[in-house]
Amino acid sequence: MKGIVLAGGEGTRLYPLTTVTSKQLLPVYDKPMIYYPLSTLMLAGIKEILIISTPHDIDRFKSLLGDGSRFGISLSYEIQKDPNGLAEAFIIGEKFIGDDSCAMILGDNIFYGSGFRGILKEAVRLAEEDKVATIFGYYVQDPERFGVVTIDEAGKPVRLVEKPTKPESNYAVTGLYFFPSGVSDRARKVERSARGELEITTLNQMYLDEEKLHVKIFGRGFAWIDAGTMDSLIDAADFVRIIENRQGIMIASLEEIAYINRWIDREKLLEVSEKYGKSPYGEHLKTVAQGRIHYEGNQL
Ligand code: DAU
Repeated sequence: MKGIVLAGGEGTRLYPLTTVTSKQLLPVYDKPMIYYPLSTLMLAGIKEILIISTPHDIDRFKSLLGDGSRFGISLSYEIQKDPNGLAEAFIIGEKFIGDDSCAMILGDNIFYGSGFRGILKEAVRLAEEDKVATIFGYYVQDPERFGVVTIDEAGKPVRLVEKPTKPESNYAVTGLYFFPSGVSDRARKVERSARGELEITTLNQMYLDEEKLHVKIFGRGFAWIDAGTMDSLIDAADFVRIIENRQGIMIASLEEIAYINRWIDREKLLEVSEKYGKSPYGEHLKTVAQGRIHYEGNQL
């Protein structure tokens, strides 16, 4: 399975913070925002990842992340000229995806919770073996801000609506999607919506129409933050700070995930930890390399 991080858009809701930098490079406590969605794809076991951003921001992502070898993965980069909609990612990434299945995550979406790795692995299995797409539902107070999914008693999706004025359910569709092979062909069939975008909801609807859409609901206690507003940016930073300091762990430590996935060895981990200097992130990687971290369940 391949993976895409979509990190474009103008970030106008965060002006002037994003006047000269990309939203997805802003700090979320102790690391740049894009570390979090990247960690999600890595936890799913995905090693080939495409980062899509704007023509003026893409080089920043390249300087930050390089070819991905320090995380034991392979990173490539593409440009999205204009914010034409989320489904365009699969057209831009057509060559990169080839005949593979593909996951996509929005560059400002942060997920965290126990059992997450198992949930991701199941979505990968469904796409690869059963040719079924997976989206994730999350109960929110303000569903009108999101794509909304209605599910029946059996947990099956019955309706999808993008930013409904009168939401039929409280389940927001998160910015993480798993599709079986052939997603680019389908994305090419998506027509522009009333607001002129190639909507991910239209793409998801195609899978729903074919009864090939699985909805996994994240339960109580699971964290999903879409860090696209001033307040959610601070909420995300607070959340990460509290969990990390309380438990002595690090959320979205990419080299640590690579090490646990056995994509890099101890020597490489120590070598890259030096590059982070005396920062808490660098110190954490050294602690991991020394085997001084206690893992229980899915704390990553
Ligand atoms: O966060 C989850 C929500 O994301 C879903 O519930 C919605 O169904 C989905 O449409 C999307 O809604 P947003 O209102 O968050 O979409 P927005 O236009 O803000 O774009 C989401 C992120 O993707 C944002 O960080 C900018 C980036 N983006 C957006 C567009 C339209 C791109 O990189 N390229 C684009 O063309």
